[in-house]
Amino acid sequence: MENCAGRAGIARTIKYHCLHLTLATGIVAASALVLPTLSVAGGEVNIYSYRQPELIQPLLDNFTAISGVETNVVFLNKGLVERVRSEGRNSPVDVILTVDIGRLDQAQAAGITQSVTSAVISNNIPVHYRDPAGHWFGVTTRARIVYASKDRVAQDAITYEELADPKWRGKICTRSGQHDYTIGLIASMIANLGAEKAEAWLTGVRANLARKPQGNDRAQAKAIFSGECDIALGNHYYVGQMITNEKEPEQKEWAAAIKVLFPNADGRGSHVNISGMAMAANAPNRDNALLLMNYLSSGPAQEIYASQVFEYPVKDGFSPVPLIADLGTLKADTLPIADIAKYRKAASEMVDRVGFNDGPSS
Ligand SMILES: [Fe+2]
Repeated sequence: MENCAGRAGIARTIKYHCLHLTLATGIVAASALVLPTLSVAGGEVNIYSYRQPELIQPLLDNFTAISGVETNVVFLNKGLVERVRSEGRNSPVDVILTVDIGRLDQAQAAGITQSVTSAVISNNIPVHYRDPAGHWFGVTTRARIVYASKDRVAQDAITYEELADPKWRGKICTRSGQHDYTIGLIASMIANLGAEKAEAWLTGVRANLARKPQGNDRAQAKAIFSGECDIALGNHYYVGQMITNEKEPEQKEWAAAIKVLFPNADGRGSHVNISGMAMAANAPNRDNALLLMNYLSSGPAQEIYASQVFEYPVKDGFSPVPLIADLGTLKADTLPIADIAKYRKAASEMVDRVGFNDGPSS
């Protein structure tokens, strides 16, 4: 078998021949990958990523192995939008990888993304997980679930609406109402219930808080472990991260104290957000960027990505890792992620209006 990655210097036409040969001979299980005919500007693609390099490297290595295109990654934990803006037309970035519609929406609003039209992507990524105008695409999803005390919560099903029920008075923990993860959930409640009902709901949840919103999602599991609260909101993948945490093994105890409830499983499904990608507005290697995005949209690539971060592939027929599958069946709310983007501002204003971050009403 030929090693395409070792033929980086060869003529582009031969490289594409190599790509098809590789796929046809099945070296990489990428049957869903359909490669467009492209005239490629260069042999590389530049990525700015909010994801840790070690999480995306297996995926990028696989991409390079089948395409011969080298990847250069700049990891940023903040300031991506500001950086790209200040680089302006000379920005080297081709593809932006980040988490949460909040950040993708922020990138689009700042004018640092461009519209992408790709039949490959449209075929691979369900319509509710991508921007109608092609400025961003979800590759994997994360569910906003309920962590419930194994010892103190008897029920095995729940709805978001039920979190406002007075039976939970003084028993709910959550991170800040202004965090992107909470804003996404509240935006989905506005989209699903209407603003008025969503506000009454959020007021009810505030009344049920055990303490002022604080800490990250793992801190909520810890609070259940320590008995501070019985119910918490958290993203599903943190359960996987806690169960497997060898650096801080006490997190295994936090995870052992909770059971996972997928809210609204018998109704519209659980709220999900996305980890996604966007093409940079001034991408200098546009054709390779499209090649990478087409690759990332494929089911097998989604599976590799999802396995690194304990998330769910967006394409039907592809699965999360067994550890996550064992948490239970995710029925995802199919509310378009674009609708969540649309209601984020209203959600943020609602958080302030109901005094959510002030904690439980006295
Ligand atoms: Fe997170």
